[in-house]
Amino acid sequence: MQEMLRVENLTKRFGGLIALDEISLDVKKGIITMLIGPNGSGKTTLINCVTGFYNPDKGKVTFDGKIITNWPPHRIYELGLVRTFQIPQPFQKLTVLENLLTAYRGHPGEGFLKAPFRRSWMKEEEKATEMAFRFLEILDLDHMWDHPASNLSGGQMKLVEAGRAIMSGAKMILMDEPAAGLYPKLAQELFYYLTEMKNKLGVTFLIVEHRLELILDYIDHVYAMARGRIVSEGEPDKVLDDPIVIESYLGG
Ligand SMILES: Nc1ncnc2c1ncn2[C@@H]1O[C@H](COP(=O)(O)OP(=O)(O)O)[C@@H](O)[C@H]1O
Ligand SMILES: [Mg+2]
Repeated sequence: MQEMLRVENLTKRFGGLIALDEISLDVKKGIITMLIGPNGSGKTTLINCVTGFYNPDKGKVTFDGKIITNWPPHRIYELGLVRTFQIPQPFQKLTVLENLLTAYRGHPGEGFLKAPFRRSWMKEEEKATEMAFRFLEILDLDHMWDHPASNLSGGQMKLVEAGRAIMSGAKMILMDEPAAGLYPKLAQELFYYLTEMKNKLGVTFLIVEHRLELILDYIDHVYAMARGRIVSEGEPDKVLDDPIVIESYLGG
């Protein structure tokens, strides 16, 4: 399987603190990779370095075959490595459909779902709307298309964020603790729909999570961090049972 994102020997210091200590990892195309680790282990710092919000002190980041180390965030976003943020306040008033449409960048031939939208006679807006409805169906949100985003539950809001990311032409979606504040059952539902996006659209995901109980069977690959290092890697069951992972949680 081909990798979408490759991180090599990434190091980030804050004064005397080594937040990332020679981190290397691969995110393969079309699967869900999860990055776990206790609070303070460096997960968000890693995401910040990968997406250009921080410059690493050392190391290399390659996305879709291009070296993107030290690129500014907007260029990395334009390349299709998209990080979801909480929908800012103004979007709460927009409908679910409008939230997706405002993310559309109209890059023909880029991102997901090129084939069904090749009809050249279609106006851009029609294409975007058809695309948005297709995504909303997959996320079971099509019946809420004309509701304001403020009507959505926390989990549904996260799905709209993921929908906005694919509308923007993302090749890979990065989510930092999307299940924060959700009860385990709702968190599992959220991950179920992200899996649907993976299966039906071929989206590549890197999902950061600190709760061990949310590592699920249908997550494909897990990396575990502790104190700025990768301490374990592999299939979910294997990583969950790894004494080093358990100890890192108990210790910190
Ligand atoms: N901007 C910053 N300035 C100084 N220290 C930081 C900064 N960002 C993160 N850190 C420190 O780096 C370490 C890793 O933090 P973080 O990446 O947020 O961990 P996680 O996301 O795994 O909880 C922590 O000790 C944190 O206090
Ligand atoms: Mg964090």
